[in-house]
Amino acid sequence: MIKSAVEYIKAKINFTPETAIILGSGLGGLAEAVEDPVYIDYAELEGFPVSTAPGHTGRFVFGTLSGKKVACMQGRFHFYEGYSMEQVVTGVRTLFLLGAKNLIVTNAAGGINTQFTAGDIMLITDHINFMGTNVLIGKNNESLGVRFPDMSFAYDPGLRKIAEKCAGELKIDIKKGVYIGCTGPSYETPAEIRAFRLLGADAVGMSTVPEVIAANHCKMRVLAFSLITNMAAGILKQPLTEEEVLETGARKGRQLQSLIEKIAGEM
Ligand code: HPA
Repeated sequence: MIKSAVEYIKAKINFTPETAIILGSGLGGLAEAVEDPVYIDYAELEGFPVSTAPGHTGRFVFGTLSGKKVACMQGRFHFYEGYSMEQVVTGVRTLFLLGAKNLIVTNAAGGINTQFTAGDIMLITDHINFMGTNVLIGKNNESLGVRFPDMSFAYDPGLRKIAEKCAGELKIDIKKGVYIGCTGPSYETPAEIRAFRLLGADAVGMSTVPEVIAANHCKMRVLAFSLITNMAAGILKQPLTEEEVLETGARKGRQLQSLIEKIAGEM
């Protein structure tokens, strides 16, 4: 299925995307900055999952960003949508097989670190897989990568340096921290958030971890950001709502978009 998707896409674009970018909830606007865009809806690709999550359009956008050939995923696939882990990473593997060497991942996340506030951008330095499964379980596809991939530098230190330099030049204050990935779709309880803080997590979300594992498996270099759309459960005296998450994404997403635009030009 992925091979036929790759053939289909290759027939429609005449370049190799160097960097792949996954646009999370409310962050799809970056795709509008892509020049000479070629749009390919996931629905055009036979057997491909389609995005059902709110704020996710469901298409690839191929083109040029800051002079570099890129491929954006405007909308991703989540485990909570009922897809298998393998389906969740279909897009990442498709873009790897199209030739992408770098992967920039974005997501909306809840802030666990009490130094954070809603609207902060967090550069992900590492993750905790709390999804109870691993995308690489099953027969290993040796053409993608090894059975036991190293995760010591899952979030590429060189790319993180570039990201911090770009943020400084744009005078965008970025936080750094550890992302813990849960399946969702229920948000966490206050007790879970207290436990995750003890484990060393700074932000929590329902995506990213499988994509980053799959990308490391095939030796793509990964850079990832969380947009802290809300403080996690129990930190503030108010319940979490999906509206809050999308509203912060819409309001603060532009800053993250301009940062990624600059980084893309320098990687
Ligand atoms: N928890 C999990 N996922 C999220 C959150 C949260 O608080 N906010 C945005 N995505």
